[in-house]
Amino acid sequence: MKTVLITGTTSGIGKAFAEKFADEGYDLILVARNEQKLKQQQAALQETYHVAVKYIVQDLTQESAAGLIMADIDKWKVTINVLVNNAGFNECGFFVDTSLDRELEMINMHIRFVTELTKRILVHMKENGYGRILNVGSTGSFIPSPTDAVYSATKAYIIRALKKSDSLKKN
Ligand SMILES: NC(=O)c1ccc[n+]([C@@H]2O[C@H](COP(=O)([O-])OP(=O)(O)OC[C@H]3O[C@@H](n4cnc5c(N)ncnc54)[C@H](OP(=O)(O)O)[C@@H]3O)[C@@H](O)[C@H]2O)c1
Repeated sequence: MKTVLITGTTSGIGKAFAEKFADEGYDLILVARNEQKLKQQQAALQETYHVAVKYIVQDLTQESAAGLIMADIDKWKVTINVLVNNAGFNECGFFVDTSLDRELEMINMHIRFVTELTKRILVHMKENGYGRILNVGSTGSFIPSPTDAVYSATKAYIIRALKKSDSLKKN
């Protein structure tokens, strides 16, 4: 049985990813902040798709987030076969008007957290000889926008800087 770890599963695209992977027979590890929604989602996915579902309640803007997720993976002794870096948000408006706090949280989550989790999971996948990673970008990854300045830059980082690693290829 393969296991997928998906961030931001309680709504939108991440919720759809969780249902699709469950339908394909994957066990799931769901990550988001809202424990009540995660618990409901766990029960619904287990009942509908008969797969094993665990969840991690975590604010991904926090510096310790990736380390705490890896600690759960180690504690559960689970092998991650697929990682979906989906969780994300926007702070829209002209740069002079937008919230600096939200933009710094965005940089923490879209760049710092995604970099750390991807690297740590990639090492885990390499040790286990298999892995796939799906990074969710945006049209903002390719087209800078004056009203999405930080969002577009962070989404460009996710898609371009972390594009296609060949480090899992065998020599
Ligand atoms: N929707 C679009 O039109 C669109 C277009 C292009 C790209 N995207 C990208 O697609 C991805 C998903 O977008 P969406 O529209 O489906 O988003 P969404 O419906 O707002 O869902 C975001 C998910 O991320 C979680 N999340 C948000 N902040 C978090 C945090 N600080 N820590 C942990 N989890 C957090 C939310 O759960 P909790 O609130 O429970 O934490 C939720 O499950 C994002 O990366 C977004 O940039 C979306």
